[in-house]
Amino acid sequence: MKTVGIIGANGVVGRTLQEEFKKITVPFETKLFGRNDEIPALDAAVLCTDNADSARLYEQLKDRIGYIVDMSAYFRQDPSVPLVIPEINPQTITKDTRLIASPNCTTTGLVMTMAPLMKAYHLTEVFFCSYQAISGGGKKLLEEFHTPGSLYENNCVPLIGSIQDSGYTSEELKGIYETRKILGLPRVKVYPHTVRVAVENAHSLGVTLKAEEPFDLAEVKKLWNAFPNLQYSEEIITPKQASGQETTYACRLRRDLEEPNIIHYFITFDNLLKGAAMNARQIVQLLLEKYL
Ligand SMILES: NC(=O)c1ccc[n+]([C@@H]2O[C@H](COP(=O)([O-])OP(=O)(O)OC[C@H]3O[C@@H](n4cnc5c(N)ncnc54)[C@H](OP(=O)(O)O)[C@@H]3O)[C@@H](O)[C@H]2O)c1
Repeated sequence: MKTVGIIGANGVVGRTLQEEFKKITVPFETKLFGRNDEIPALDAAVLCTDNADSARLYEQLKDRIGYIVDMSAYFRQDPSVPLVIPEINPQTITKDTRLIASPNCTTTGLVMTMAPLMKAYHLTEVFFCSYQAISGGGKKLLEEFHTPGSLYENNCVPLIGSIQDSGYTSEELKGIYETRKILGLPRVKVYPHTVRVAVENAHSLGVTLKAEEPFDLAEVKKLWNAFPNLQYSEEIITPKQASGQETTYACRLRRDLEEPNIIHYFITFDNLLKGAAMNARQIVQLLLEKYL
């Protein structure tokens, strides 16, 4: 029986992944590891840890673990490491791959709505403003949110991650570079603005997307609804409804009043599921089916 570890099993993503692993249809054994646990040889493992811990754990474990899926941002921009969303670019995992990065949650929702349109449109520019849930900041932020007087109580905070020399936050830069890498569009222009809002779970984004061709709204909806785990809703859909769901929802699609090659829409999705643990579960399923 193959063994797959969840390292960082007591964090927000680690706990969600324990539930997600129950949906894997190939037999395997799950092993759970917290901060001070000894980690033995394993067939595969998911690192549900932050950048510094993932970097250190990878060095310690790479010779003992067959395949490592990392949830942190640490390896995502390494050209030798595939950045994988199974609905979009599973082919970037090859028989020689040993380390796979799972993308940023906000970027995941965005590219889930861009990838299906690439069949019909040459996408050139995307602007988004995010409304990101507290659970995206892990267990410490959830604790802070539930502490009376928290900055996040009844509020929205335009700072996620840290501000870099460019003035962008680290979260916004992930939106630029990860979108380009996942979609294989190195020149697509991405204009990100990321905001934390007082919503416990499920991220949302307002998106403006530009292509070389004029958009046909009926075709856009058709392409979205034909794509796995993505659905266009004619009704308004909010993070309360998306929380706990595997689907990424889009709504409020409209063509720009002046530019027919620009559309605007709203998306919402569960950052802990498609944005993290569900994506990791899909990658592990693929590894178990094809490579383990
Ligand atoms: N939350 C999201 O929506 C989301 C989405 C996409 C990606 N991610 C990424 O996923 C990773 C985990 O996020 P999270 O939200 O689950 O954070 P979290 O709630 O802070 O959980 C991190 C967990 O890692 C554990 N840990 C740290 N060092 C460890 C070690 N050496 N061995 C084993 N466990 C160790 C921590 O242990 P203690 O409990 O002892 O502190 C904690 O339980 C991060 O890189 C994050 O950026 C998160």
